[in-house]
Amino acid sequence: MEIFSDNIALAIRRLRKMNDLENRVEERTEELQGAYEELKKANKLKDQVMGMATHELRTPLTSIKGYVDYIRSGGAGKVPEEIDELLKIVERNSKRLQKLTDDMLDQQRLETGTLEMEMEYTDVVELIEEAKEEIKPVLREKGQKLSLDIENTPKCKLEPTRISQVLINLLTNASKYSPRETEIKLKVKENSDKVIIKVIDEGIGLCDEDLDKLFKPFPHIEKPAEYTNGIGLGLTISRDFVELHGGEMWAESQGVGRGSTFIFTLPVPYHTENDA
Ligand SMILES: Nc1ncnc2c1ncn2[C@@H]1O[C@H](COP(=O)(O)OP(=O)(O)OP(=O)(O)O)[C@@H](O)[C@H]1O
Ligand SMILES: [Mg+2]
Repeated sequence: MEIFSDNIALAIRRLRKMNDLENRVEERTEELQGAYEELKKANKLKDQVMGMATHELRTPLTSIKGYVDYIRSGGAGKVPEEIDELLKIVERNSKRLQKLTDDMLDQQRLETGTLEMEMEYTDVVELIEEAKEEIKPVLREKGQKLSLDIENTPKCKLEPTRISQVLINLLTNASKYSPRETEIKLKVKENSDKVIIKVIDEGIGLCDEDLDKLFKPFPHIEKPAEYTNGIGLGLTISRDFVELHGGEMWAESQGVGRGSTFIFTLPVPYHTENDA
């Protein structure tokens, strides 16, 4: 009889405990739901502010760039050399601002899933040749050389402007984070179902810890004082673009001071336009 009542008391205690636990779980769930709703609101507000700021910056920027272009090309009369030098600085800084607003807008579109892509069969080699032309002034400034090692590849189905952006971002980084007079290699080859593109530099390199952080927005990476940060969105956007194409992107390095290699892949469609 005594054992029986002991068991009942134990069962009641357990039941109370369970009840207690259930109540606590319910309370925490409500708290979490509240916090989630708050976060959602804050995130929406952040998106609105980012969208507005980006838009408000882009409009006046277009006008600044347009007028500087017009003045430099002699539209408002002959421009003395010393004034032209000053206008070049305005032009360079407007370009930096434009990259910032473009990257912010892309990042926002990627986050909200509103980026639109128009895929078309494209010759990757042609895109690379164009990127090489575009990056020339940057390389010239640092006395760097870009060598291409390209295997003939089939056309890939991709959004040309986005993949160009990826190439330019990687080549700009390779130049920016390497000393003067170094060489950058761009290699392309095809491997069964994908095209593999590598950008190899002889620059400041990366440690294992950095390799993990690289593709996050605004990563904090220690580097020698003469190598300043950019905005910190280039790689995160580039990887997202590549992944939206069904490809992959990663980085390799032998360590600090020993150069880096950035690699991305693009799938080759089973039936290419050439087969049609
Ligand atoms: N080729 C490279 N060699 C060494 N470090 C690199 C290289 N490419 C990128 N990094 C490191 O990764 C960081 C992030 O690169 P990412 O391109 O995203 O941003 P960023 O170059 O700082 O700015 P931006 O948004 O203008 O491109 C860089 O600040 C740099 O520390
Ligand atoms: Mg960059």
